[in-house]
Amino acid sequence: MEDLIAKAAGQLARSRYAVALTGAGMSTESGVPDFRGPNGVWTRNPDAERQAYESYYRFQRDPKAYWIERMTAVTWLKDMESARPNPGHHALAELEEMSILKSIVTQNIDNLHQKAGSKKVLDYHGNISLLRCYSCDTRYDPQQYELERMLAEDRLPPYCQKCNGVLKSDVVHFNEAIPPDVAKHSQEEVAGCDVMLICGTSAVVYPFAMLPRMAKQERAGRKTVIIEINAEATPLTAEGVSDYLIQGKTGTILPKVLEAVKQKRKAEGQ
Ligand code: APR
Repeated sequence: MEDLIAKAAGQLARSRYAVALTGAGMSTESGVPDFRGPNGVWTRNPDAERQAYESYYRFQRDPKAYWIERMTAVTWLKDMESARPNPGHHALAELEEMSILKSIVTQNIDNLHQKAGSKKVLDYHGNISLLRCYSCDTRYDPQQYELERMLAEDRLPPYCQKCNGVLKSDVVHFNEAIPPDVAKHSQEEVAGCDVMLICGTSAVVYPFAMLPRMAKQERAGRKTVIIEINAEATPLTAEGVSDYLIQGKTGTILPKVLEAVKQKRKAEGQ
């Protein structure tokens, strides 16, 4: 593993435009369970995944009931909001500070990359800390609404201050389209990168899982180096989409990669 860490550090140090794609495996060391790993939410309770497919329809059918349930019954949201970034998140934030990592496209809704200090984060599946208008995609800080008071006074759901459309969580539910702005910016990041880190994802959910394959396509002879960092092999490994897999915990490997990059920069007098 150490030689792969040194290899990844060299490729990052020489990169022109490195981008990271992340998934729930990044956050398990922060106490936020993943979905399909050995202790994943779907692994432990397959019915929960089926219910998750219902969320979007429930919202569309009855936004008020969706909001009441979200504010009274959903406990995992509170756990996620109290989670703290782990060394893997901090390592990616520092690689951005060093101007090596240009952006993160994350499937995670937990806001932990932002809490770790990462600035350019594209929340491909939305973010639990934001609300979004169902009609015009305008996003709001929940603090702009007195949601607890609205619940107590039976005035849910909240409405958009721009177009009066109904608001939902910014979280992208199954069968809900990826917000067009995030989809566009993510594809631009992927199209322009020469090194891609793929951290903590099983890479089985589309359209996110298309992004590494888009990066793999040779563009004008310019090859993108694709490095997986994951506890287990994935379809990207099996199909040769990634150039290599550094198998293990992101919270352990990413800080080692960061340290190796720093050593390379020091040796080069940078
Ligand atoms: N370090 C590295 N890899 C890890 C770690 C860790 N500490 N913990 C778990 N993993 C790996 C798991 O083995 C698994 O391969 O991370 C991967 C997580 O995969 P999933 O649980 O499928 O999560 P993700 O790929 O992000 O899921 C994508 O599915 O349910 C939807 O919307 C949800 O965004 C999510 C999407």
